[in-house]
Amino acid sequence: MTRKIIIDTDPGQDDAIAILLALASPNDIDVLGITAVAGNVPLPLTQRNVRVVCELAGRPDMTVCAGCDAPMQRPLVTAEHVHGTTGLDGPEMIAPTMPLSDQHAVDFIIETAREQDGITLCPLGPLTNIATALERAPEIADKIDEIILMGGAYFEVGNITPAAEFNIYVDPEAADIVFRSGIKLTVLPLDTTHKVLATAERTAAIRAIGGPVAETVAAWTEFFERFDTEKYGSAGAPLHDPCVIAYLLKPDLFSGRQCNVQVEVSSPLTLGMTVADWWHITDHPRNAFFCGDVDANGFFDLLTERLARL
Ligand code: BDR
Ligand code: CA
Repeated sequence: MTRKIIIDTDPGQDDAIAILLALASPNDIDVLGITAVAGNVPLPLTQRNVRVVCELAGRPDMTVCAGCDAPMQRPLVTAEHVHGTTGLDGPEMIAPTMPLSDQHAVDFIIETAREQDGITLCPLGPLTNIATALERAPEIADKIDEIILMGGAYFEVGNITPAAEFNIYVDPEAADIVFRSGIKLTVLPLDTTHKVLATAERTAAIRAIGGPVAETVAAWTEFFERFDTEKYGSAGAPLHDPCVIAYLLKPDLFSGRQCNVQVEVSSPLTLGMTVADWWHITDHPRNAFFCGDVDANGFFDLLTERLARL
């Protein structure tokens, strides 16, 4: 069955690779549109970067909408220290010529959810666009099949503060709305994504495909691995966001458990923390499937095989 999805994203090299993985898999995934949100870098850059990636994938026909330029209640926090000033630093990228849609991302999400039964939302950045759509049109919650998102952490704790993962920390109020929405929710947290490392050997296998897409992906991972190799001593860049698309394509690569997950929205110390009741200590509703582990070799086999199709 082909899954109809909207990718909501803040590219970011790992977002870009997630988009490529989805666009390389048209038999499995029908990308209805890609919505940009402020996150890793400000909105003018994230919407531009989405179009850069669509053109790289040979999809200048894709609907790309710009959304919210700031979190619901807070100033924007960005991550140029990870992704560089453009968000897609590394290889030289060609300026996009494909158009940006006139429609706001939030309106696109609402309209698409109303018109199409059973869409899946794939957020790869702060949850501002998604939560704003749910606030403005709460009835769409019943029309959305599933939200599969990259965000949060439990055993791995934080990457932007000691307690919080970046996507949730940037807009905790938005994350809180999504986690309380009642929509089927699958979460790819740092606990999983920190195991998906683009080692030198895996990057070489991608580069060996040949061609501009493979070369660009290899150069992106080589650029943005420096943050994690310096901070965590990782063996390569963690491909956080592509885990969302890999989960759609091959859920058996991932394991986890259904549990209660809540977002801290008030404590200055632990703002944006995802408190996952992994051990079922409470009777709180089990609102999310929280992935804890992944077959990383299987992930890279899938990614390499799919990128070769572009
Ligand atoms: C998340 O934050 C961003 O920097 C990445 O693109 C990913 O979505 C990881 O914490
Ligand atoms: Ca991202």
